Amino acid sequence: MCGLIGYIGNNAVASTLLSGLKNLEYRGYDSAGIALNDNNMIDVFKAKGKLENLKNLLETQSAKLGSSHIGIGHIRWATHGKATTENAHPHLSNDGKLVLVHNGIIENYQELRRQLQAEGFVFHSETDTETAVHLIDREYKKSHSLEQAVISAVKLLRGAFAFCIMHQDEPDKIIAVRKNAPLIIGIGNNENYIASDIPAIIGKVSGIIHLADNELAIVRQDSVEVKKLSGEPVIKPIEKIEFSPDVISKLGYKHFMLKEINEQPNILRQCLAAHIPAVDQPVSLDECTISLDFTKIKNISIIACGTSLHAAAFAQNLWEEWLHLPVHIEAASEYIYKHNLTDENSLVIGISQSGETADTITAVKQAQEKGAQLLLLTNRTDSSITRYSENVIPLNAGIEVSVAATKSYTAQLAALYWFGLYWAEQISSLSQGQLQAIKQSLLELPALAEEVLSHSADIKALADKLKNYHNFVYMARGINLTCALEGALKLKEISYINANAYAAGELKHGPIALLDENMPVMAILGSGITLSKMISNCAEAKARNAPLIAVASEKEDLPLDLFDYLIKIPGASHGIFPILANLPLQLLAYYIADGLGREVDQPRNLAKSVTVE
Ligand code: M6R
Repeated sequence: MCGLIGYIGNNAVASTLLSGLKNLEYRGYDSAGIALNDNNMIDVFKAKGKLENLKNLLETQSAKLGSSHIGIGHIRWATHGKATTENAHPHLSNDGKLVLVHNGIIENYQELRRQLQAEGFVFHSETDTETAVHLIDREYKKSHSLEQAVISAVKLLRGAFAFCIMHQDEPDKIIAVRKNAPLIIGIGNNENYIASDIPAIIGKVSGIIHLADNELAIVRQDSVEVKKLSGEPVIKPIEKIEFSPDVISKLGYKHFMLKEINEQPNILRQCLAAHIPAVDQPVSLDECTISLDFTKIKNISIIACGTSLHAAAFAQNLWEEWLHLPVHIEAASEYIYKHNLTDENSLVIGISQSGETADTITAVKQAQEKGAQLLLLTNRTDSSITRYSENVIPLNAGIEVSVAATKSYTAQLAALYWFGLYWAEQISSLSQGQLQAIKQSLLELPALAEEVLSHSADIKALADKLKNYHNFVYMARGINLTCALEGALKLKEISYINANAYAAGELKHGPIALLDENMPVMAILGSGITLSKMISNCAEAKARNAPLIAVASEKEDLPLDLFDYLIKIPGASHGIFPILANLPLQLLAYYIADGLGREVDQPRNLAKSVTVE
């Protein structure tokens, strides 16, 4: 949700900033801009829309781009003010000497804006960010020190922020400061970077410094000083980047989403190798730092958003059966309003791919205040959410670039699966026979996932037949409902086709009124006790002329003439089926969206890390 970059060094600054922003595009694409400090003046270049527009603008301005060694850049996901050039960052002070880029939201911006206007500052945008520029500028005029001005000004701001700030009269430095929004410093060879996230600087730096909340970094070409807002110096470790530069390459795939879908069998393989050493051995925690008092836990709440919330629903189904404990799931954005009964007997689990989702962080914070034990699942162990607990399960899916979550979801399901088993072992709620049977089917999963993905050409052909429908219904029962929910979300977020998921038994209570020949129904059939009722629900849909597609286990004997199209997947046990059935639904959403010419990796209105509530 907005991406920042800063650079100071001997490379061509504009193109260095642009290439960093390119790898932050998943954070927003409503507008982009850069500012260069060339000793005599600050030059700002901004363009509405995608980064490509800024790139085109810069090509016409080459004469102005040459002499600077220092600059900052921004990619925007609009919150306050429309996606216009005026609202695009960087924002300038009235004297044109101070410039900044911002990620986050300044909650008290209206009151500050009124105050600053009364003092004579003129605003040129509708953004909350511009208040910060004028505030720092006001403080600069008092202290004539950028560092002092930033320290005084940010103390007056409420909300979340990461800033990169430059001043024309201090052309040797960029100041970076953060509170509740991510920011890292990249250490190079006689050059340094600031960025919202690793992809912007991967392959360019030898190490990184993670800035903590209320810390400020004075970044020069050959040095980085970190201080607290009190002015006290902080010695920060320089950490190695753990990700391979491949994360920012599509490796020949047309889109990151397709690359990430195809990474899933290997992610599962690595996860299982780490945690399920063999069917007759206990689950291993491997590198996870988890110390929970299982004997104290009387109830479990899982809080998350979007796709991560669907993973929570999966765990609810499995764990209530395995652990015999009540599991509540809650959209993080709603959890905070509930008079919930979380207390010291609760385990609250926060799931977040990015670890930066503001709704989830706020809910986790609230659960912590209520005395609950906390456990966090995240794909980014360097993210903000990990500040709230030592108990962290890393998803190890590698950086997910496409805005639509795919591989991180599968990694979440696998993690919830093995952790549920680990817990069942700790409290002996499953017999050895049950544990071994479950582990056996889990270990078969990577190969089965590979097999499912090998039929992508069939799914592409199906997508071609379905892409011109405007509405879809997804339906399932039991644990497979999570799969229907996720399949429908995937389709709508990248293709913009309306797709709603229902518990199949609920259809007859209202939504069945929607069904006709223009409303395809996607049924996720599964096996076991839900299957016969699902087949009845399919017959009901067919009787209303809805085109009927089903994802089903190839082991089941099905009335084949009922379906217009059947996606068969290898027979798999309860619990494993929804992990596999999700894969063709990801592919279907992908090929429909691509067939419609959508911007698959960067769907409109969305951003990868949603850092506002
Ligand atoms: O990073 P998080 O897992 O906390 O993100 C939660 C949602 O914003 C995210 O899953 C979103 O729904 C994705 N666009 C799904 O593809």
